[in-house]
Amino acid sequence: MASLTTAGSTTAASTGTAPNISLRGIGKSYSGVSVLRDVDLNIGAGEVHSLVGENGAGKSTLLKILGGAVRADHGTLSFDGEQAAISGPRDAIRHGVSLISQEGALVPAMTVLENVFLGRWSNRFGLARRRADRARFDELIDVTGFAVDPQARVDRLPMGTRQQVEILRALARGATVLAMDEPTAVLTEHEKENLLGLIRRLAAGGTTVILVSHFLDEVLAVADRVTVLRDGALVITDDASQLTPTTLVRHMVGREIDVLHAEPAPVQPDAPVRLAARGLRRGLVDGVDLSVRAGEIVGIAGLVGSGRSETLRLLFGADRASGGVVELDGETLTRLTPRKAMAAGIALVPESRKEEGLVMVRSVRENVALASLAGRRYGPFVRPAAERTSVDDVSRTVDIRAAQPAAAVETLSGGNQQKALFAKWLLREPRVLLIDEPTRGVDVAAKTQIHRLVVELARNGMAVVVVSSEIEEVLGLSHRVLVLRQGRVVGEFPRGAPREDVMAAAFGHA
Ligand SMILES: Nc1ncnc2c1ncn2[C@@H]1O[C@H](COP(=O)(O)OP(=O)(O)OP(=O)(O)O)[C@@H](O)[C@H]1O
Ligand SMILES: [Mg+2]
Repeated sequence: MASLTTAGSTTAASTGTAPNISLRGIGKSYSGVSVLRDVDLNIGAGEVHSLVGENGAGKSTLLKILGGAVRADHGTLSFDGEQAAISGPRDAIRHGVSLISQEGALVPAMTVLENVFLGRWSNRFGLARRRADRARFDELIDVTGFAVDPQARVDRLPMGTRQQVEILRALARGATVLAMDEPTAVLTEHEKENLLGLIRRLAAGGTTVILVSHFLDEVLAVADRVTVLRDGALVITDDASQLTPTTLVRHMVGREIDVLHAEPAPVQPDAPVRLAARGLRRGLVDGVDLSVRAGEIVGIAGLVGSGRSETLRLLFGADRASGGVVELDGETLTRLTPRKAMAAGIALVPESRKEEGLVMVRSVRENVALASLAGRRYGPFVRPAAERTSVDDVSRTVDIRAAQPAAAVETLSGGNQQKALFAKWLLREPRVLLIDEPTRGVDVAAKTQIHRLVVELARNGMAVVVVSSEIEEVLGLSHRVLVLRQGRVVGEFPRGAPREDVMAAAFGHA
């Protein structure tokens, strides 16, 4: 796609055509633990190549090596047959490779425009440069179809939009190889479709896309070829047309597993309403009513900006509501704060593990124990968690896989961080569990485990509210799904309702 090269700017990147990439004998260890073993891989110019594997299989590490963020211990990287020394992101960019990482790599306090053109070597100054940047930005918006305000500060943007900013930045740098680490994990259905469309268009224009994803349907729909990693070793590379979700899972896990949706148990007919909200409002949230019975799982669906996460935050007191009431077991919780919510037995598993969930430099153990350390009793019916459940039990239940138990959370793979976040709140044995994106970045097998766990918790009387961008997840896991649009509940669907109906309600076409 000719319009994607950096016309007029002086990035060192991009000759405009993607290179053929060859990795040979790539190996990497951390503290003596081998996380990539002797990986050989060819990626053709203009190919969509997908990398799949369980959490911790080594996908991100491999991408980081290609993107210059991590150095391999051994092995070689070649571009169009020429061996290259990649010792930093700049070297990678010089070969056209731009990494869109799982963690996100934007400068939060800067604007979208500043981020997109960050680190670009330009010989233009002042007004001329700003005009040029702006024109180039508008061009990129045309190509991608993204709706992003160039003046918005990045830390005020939802995750999905931040991702778009990273893609814009890569394209602004003239990337011919886009290495994307779980780009669709933070997107809603509609945004996912758009991104997959963009990937196809980029590839049709000669850009190579390397895509890491846990959504196997999406992988098979968009990739030309797929590589499976297991425990750091390459298991197979094959044409997507030769693979199915089932064969992929078998290669990933090394055995047959059951990845059926967990079915929620029927709610007891006499189950009392545990959590209720009426007229809840603040910011985006414009008068939300909901009620959840003991043992019930209520899903919340909606587009980005519909107020899903914000509603959860209000139910937890993370933001103070400007109107409306929250009731627990029929009693109004006034002036709700997270501390009060926790004391009452309400837990929130937040959307962002990095910003609000986990202390990245502490160990899994410490993180998981953190929420319960206070050791307070929170109500006559709930015994302190420590009496029944140990950190290790909970960690095992959600299957956290760390190279070493004492390892800092930041060294865990993305999916394992998500599991640690979940474990942390489970340990408190809350009566109401509010979960924002419970399985973001979690592999197929672990996802099933987490779903089963949520179903089990509800069966034991917990009231659960689940927000997920994945329609299948909310529809499969919940007894009822509420659809939010512009901060209001605009529809309610029973479990198993057609996803098209839910989408239509979310978009306002219903
Ligand atoms: N900086 C680090 N220090 C120590 N161990 C690390 C570090 N980075 C990664 N690891 C380990 O390397 C292994 C592979 O991690 P990687 O992030 O590549 O997995 P992944 O396949 O991307 O998993 P996920 O699907 O969860 O994102 C994991 O066991 C992880 O804990
Ligand atoms: Mg990863």
